[in-house]
Amino acid sequence: MIHIKTLQDYEQSYSECQSDSVKFWQRMARDFDWIKTPQKTMEGSFEDGNVTWFADGKLNITVNALDRHVQKDPERIAFYFEANDPQEAPKKFTYQQTLEKVCQFANLLKSRGVKKGDVVCFYMSMVPELLFGVLACARIGAVHSVVFGGFSSQALASRIQDCSAKVVVTNDEGLRGDKKIPLKKMADEALETCPTVKTVFVLQRTQCEILMQKDRDEFLTENLQQQNKFCEPEVMDAEDPLFILYTSGSTGKPKGLLHTIAGYMLWTSFTFQNVFQYKKEDLFWCTADLGWITGHSYMAYGPLLSGATQVIFEGVPNWPDAGRFWQVIDKYQVTHFYTAPTAIRALMAQDISYVKKQSLNSLKVLGSVGEPINDEAWQWYFENVGQKRCPIVDTWWQTETGGIMISSLAGVTPSISTFATKPLPGVEPVLMSDGTEGPLCIRKPWPGMARSIFGDHQRYLQTYFTAYPGFYFTGDGARVDEKGNFRIIGRIDDVVNVSGHRIGTAEVEDAVNLHPAIVESAVIGVPHDIKGQGIVAFAICTQKNLVSEKVLAEVNALIQKQIGAIAKLEAIYLVSGLPKTRSGKIMRRILRKALEKDRQSLGDISTLVNPEVVEELFKL
Ligand code: WT7
Repeated sequence: MIHIKTLQDYEQSYSECQSDSVKFWQRMARDFDWIKTPQKTMEGSFEDGNVTWFADGKLNITVNALDRHVQKDPERIAFYFEANDPQEAPKKFTYQQTLEKVCQFANLLKSRGVKKGDVVCFYMSMVPELLFGVLACARIGAVHSVVFGGFSSQALASRIQDCSAKVVVTNDEGLRGDKKIPLKKMADEALETCPTVKTVFVLQRTQCEILMQKDRDEFLTENLQQQNKFCEPEVMDAEDPLFILYTSGSTGKPKGLLHTIAGYMLWTSFTFQNVFQYKKEDLFWCTADLGWITGHSYMAYGPLLSGATQVIFEGVPNWPDAGRFWQVIDKYQVTHFYTAPTAIRALMAQDISYVKKQSLNSLKVLGSVGEPINDEAWQWYFENVGQKRCPIVDTWWQTETGGIMISSLAGVTPSISTFATKPLPGVEPVLMSDGTEGPLCIRKPWPGMARSIFGDHQRYLQTYFTAYPGFYFTGDGARVDEKGNFRIIGRIDDVVNVSGHRIGTAEVEDAVNLHPAIVESAVIGVPHDIKGQGIVAFAICTQKNLVSEKVLAEVNALIQKQIGAIAKLEAIYLVSGLPKTRSGKIMRRILRKALEKDRQSLGDISTLVNPEVVEELFKL
């Protein structure tokens, strides 16, 4: 693996990769344990949507993430588990123990008939078993599909149906701060419409009473204990599927992005080591949930592939109090802390004494991910958490990219507030405009890119490769300065980023429209101090004189049921019409401008069939 240690190293690697990427990535790939070393590197193209990397290679990713390190140092800690309740004794797992747990889980899945290519769905809170289960799938060649525990039963059901999962793994309840999330109960509701699921494993986290369906449900822990602690790794092709992860787009239902093994393995470890500059004695903590791509790439795979030691945290930043993150950092002596701007903004709003009470001396590197970080939050993070000593890596990437694409390299290349800065070697960002701001595209295939949308390759081509033929279109807008530093502005499609969570406006509109009094609706994102963006809806109602607070509460209940609490509205505006073009497309830009009371940049409204609604909107 190439370790970029200086600015010159970075520049050299970047240009080397640009001029001879085959040689560059071949050298990188040699660093892994292969069952059959690949001769091929990249084949295919964006135009044809058929990119492969190392296609003739054979391997098992868990051998690279676990066995390889166990051989060298079995007693090395893979992770510490910090439970939701700070009073609960922390757990730690060595690489040897992690491998054994993963193998037991793998053997259990096998014993219930799970085979290479089968899909296993995880609907859990952040517990060690989730990590073991995901890696167990990779061990036997099954495909994992993790659904974030904050999603509703309906959202879970549609994801299980989409990928025809055979097995679901869940907990009785998830613990998040002072809340208990009834995961098993919600899974039961979902499974009423999921006939492909034959087995459900239930981890008892709170020991609460739950219904166990005969011939389908089994307790996880006692079954795991009976299993053998070694499981032969399945021989996998480099391009076999590793996982599916659902994310929202501008239209339609969530897309199951499909990632394959070898390219993803290379990309997550290469980016982990070089962006964070992790050293053997360091302790990495990524606060993301495994239900998101950040948890996949920088908890399950990147760090373990690199033999790192990390903290895995079950809880939330503000419970028992707003000092929890800082206490955990001191408790374990965390050196690398990777979190989202929304968490920083929420904690920044709390009394500063929560931060000041802790020493935070162990910290070396801070990371940010998921949404643009505003200057105020960046400065606060830098001064109070990093004590002006720690570089901040503002890492721009997406579920689709598999790993970090644009970021400074900690302490190696400059960090600049509000800029993700420079692309990683192998990444060529292009702005599709004449000037220095425009739609962000990527010019060449990189190893970590998603290969398809599960079950709908056509949609994959349509979404990412048709807007700008020959380029991957990210959906983001960006700006570049004279030195080539990129600043991400945010989504330019109909996707809203709420607290770093991607939510499609179409999905929310579908939920809003279920309200009996609502005929039609349009949803947009609006600036929000803590969440980055909040969601608001404009709705046409059948009945006059409805109280919008009442409608808001009812609509939010529907959203919670259809999607989950993360997609709740901040406000709903009851209107008599929505601004539409002749072809029936709602002009969301006009809705945004109306709320901003910005007539200057309203632009052309002559294409509207109903220009009269504009006045009404400006009066809201
Ligand atoms: C969208 C992808 C990346 C893993 C977590 C989110 C936004 C992500 C940044 C950043 C500005 C960012 C983009 C992107 N985003 N990181 N550092 N600066 N914006 O993954 O759910 O697939 O969302 O998150 O808008 O398109 P995701």
